[in-house]
Amino acid sequence: MDPSHQRPAADPPKALDIQDRVAALVARMSLDDKIGQMALGQPGTASPPETLGDAIRGGRIGAVVNVVERAAINELQRIAVEESPHGIPLLVGRDVIHGFQTILPIPLGQAASWNPELVRAGARVAAEEAARSGINWTFAPMIDISRDPRWGRIAESLGEDVFLTGRLAMAMVEGFQGRSLADAGSIAACAKHFAGYGAAESGRDYATTNIPDNELHNVYLPPFRAAVEGGVASLMTSFSDLDGVPATAHAGLLRDVLRGQWSFDGIVVSDWESIPQLSVHGLTANDREAAIAAANAGVEVEMASATYARHLADAVRSGRVDLETIDAAVARILTLKFELGLFEAPYTQATDNPQAKRETALQVARQAALQSMVLLKNHNDLLPLDSQRMERLAILGPLADAAYEQLGTWIFDGEADRSVSALAGIRARLGSDTEIIHLPVLETSRSREFVDIDAALAAVRAADAAILFLGEESILSGEAHSRANIDLPGAQAKLVQRIRASGKPVVAVILAGRPLTLANIVDQVDAMLYAWHPGSMGGPAIADLLFGIESPSGKLPVTFPRAVGQIPLYYNAKNTGKPPRPDTVTRIDEIPVQAPQTSLGMSAFHLDIDHTPLFAFGHGLSYARFEYSDLRIRPPQIAPGECVRISVELRNAGRRAAEEIAQLYVRDPVASITRPVRELKGFQRVRVAPGQAVRIEFRLHADDLRFYRRPSGWILEPGRFQVWVGGDSNADLAGEFQLIDA
Ligand code: GLC
Repeated sequence: MDPSHQRPAADPPKALDIQDRVAALVARMSLDDKIGQMALGQPGTASPPETLGDAIRGGRIGAVVNVVERAAINELQRIAVEESPHGIPLLVGRDVIHGFQTILPIPLGQAASWNPELVRAGARVAAEEAARSGINWTFAPMIDISRDPRWGRIAESLGEDVFLTGRLAMAMVEGFQGRSLADAGSIAACAKHFAGYGAAESGRDYATTNIPDNELHNVYLPPFRAAVEGGVASLMTSFSDLDGVPATAHAGLLRDVLRGQWSFDGIVVSDWESIPQLSVHGLTANDREAAIAAANAGVEVEMASATYARHLADAVRSGRVDLETIDAAVARILTLKFELGLFEAPYTQATDNPQAKRETALQVARQAALQSMVLLKNHNDLLPLDSQRMERLAILGPLADAAYEQLGTWIFDGEADRSVSALAGIRARLGSDTEIIHLPVLETSRSREFVDIDAALAAVRAADAAILFLGEESILSGEAHSRANIDLPGAQAKLVQRIRASGKPVVAVILAGRPLTLANIVDQVDAMLYAWHPGSMGGPAIADLLFGIESPSGKLPVTFPRAVGQIPLYYNAKNTGKPPRPDTVTRIDEIPVQAPQTSLGMSAFHLDIDHTPLFAFGHGLSYARFEYSDLRIRPPQIAPGECVRISVELRNAGRRAAEEIAQLYVRDPVASITRPVRELKGFQRVRVAPGQAVRIEFRLHADDLRFYRRPSGWILEPGRFQVWVGGDSNADLAGEFQLIDA
């Protein structure tokens, strides 16, 4: 069939029909045909020496990855449909992590918007662009809880908090998958990496994780459960070893929790060659044993490696793997293909007007960039800059004109030529009314030698203000790009010092894929805007915020430590038996000689640094001034199954309208296991006009107070619960309520 003549997409297949069709197809398939459906290959890795096309034609591959040209995908689909033993179409996977051609902020930046609807819209435009190429499966959302900014993949995550990550995970799944997987523009999502990957020791990617069972269930698993409840079509196993068992062979996770407790009925795919890596971990002796361990644990699709292709048939014939296991896996894979409508419409042609769609995508990308950026500091309300009074601006730093670098990690298909840099955004915003002097001064973020530093200093002296664009290039974060030192690389801090000496107002805009340790520059700049890697429309968004077209509204989804030695440092920590108090904290240079052992305060702090973060989870300033008051909690006590309503008045005491993200935190101060000092349990983004006040209400259900305790599982315990509402995790407007026994 000519792939360019796509049959009209059929009505979404009905579940009953699908199961009948799946059963009929499985019944006709040989063991080899079935195992072929469990293989996900890419050009060049399809069981060499055969080509991908030959493997598909022979029914030995059921899914492909990293094929993105529409014509190439249509040809591979044609081979599958017309020349393979059963004419089964292909899953076509790709890492569409934060955009396809149009790039959104990195997920950590999107998380800073605390805006599920915007995150959903971003995933939708990404899905539509990818689907137009023929891609029908993305390996996203990545929802590993990340408490360690040394870990390069924190860039792909949605931050450190369970509740926020869970809400945004569901939003991304909805955006990717739409109302129906068969809809044009929908692609199957894949929640990853199941599970606990973000707890890699010392933030080194792929390193061991040691997560106690209570922590696993209370912190690392809930976002995946949210994705499953949100209908995610697939999960990907993690590379990491979880308490001695690599996730790719972890039957406890894949069978007991995922299938048994959560009734997940989608497919589980390994990560890239994570099945043969089981022998590198030391769990299995060879590929054959690795294939058996992964299949019996519940991995249904093998990505990139070929242990299933080589060993699974023998393993079934020798009784090491049950045929039922294979049949169940293939049934789920075929079900997904039917749900995607691939049997009715396996081919892709460009149906929409790309220009119209692209404008929409760029608008979404701009909104996402605007709402992702976090104003960390604004001394004396230096920002917004008054463009009318700016005759001359010095724009300095290695990331001022970095259209590619601002796209961030995981942007294989991003169009850098359509990315607008900060310099270009500012020029467009200011026009010819303001003279802009742009000097990178450092060739890259890692450069140690200045270029034209004298010219830069002269420019600053002649300017009304200096804007420094600092941070790290996209390659310094992402997979396998962890860093032991997360200061600004190279001579950037020295550049800040030199510019500071000019005495002119200094604004720092930081572009990075992670929290950086900024204690060595934060006091040397008047204002600091954290832009993450903001994607294709980062430039216009930065300009709109710096010059007040919009007010910053982002809030940190992750804690910013003062120094790498504080890590792990996160807001929802346990109190310990000896929490640090201001009077116990000492500075190492103040310690008297021969100070007695117990004289320095015996509590959980470091001698040589303040025990608090540089910037707290949930922190973010705006151009308005928000005040919280009149906390009301009704009723004062609830029983299991009931709701408590928690409301506050939020006033904008500033001079301009802006959006605030009000946050609700709860603490269970006494329980049968220790619980965090506070946990996010609700948030609302509201716009408030200057001088106005609104009442915000949160509804908290008793079930939101449950926690997991081994071996009982999820429990609810009566008692007192503390409540705080405010603009960050240090919120101090407090109240409490009682949960009584049933
Ligand atoms: C990688 C990543 C995973 C990604 C996959 C396919 O190694 O761990 O997140 O989806 O390979 O590119």
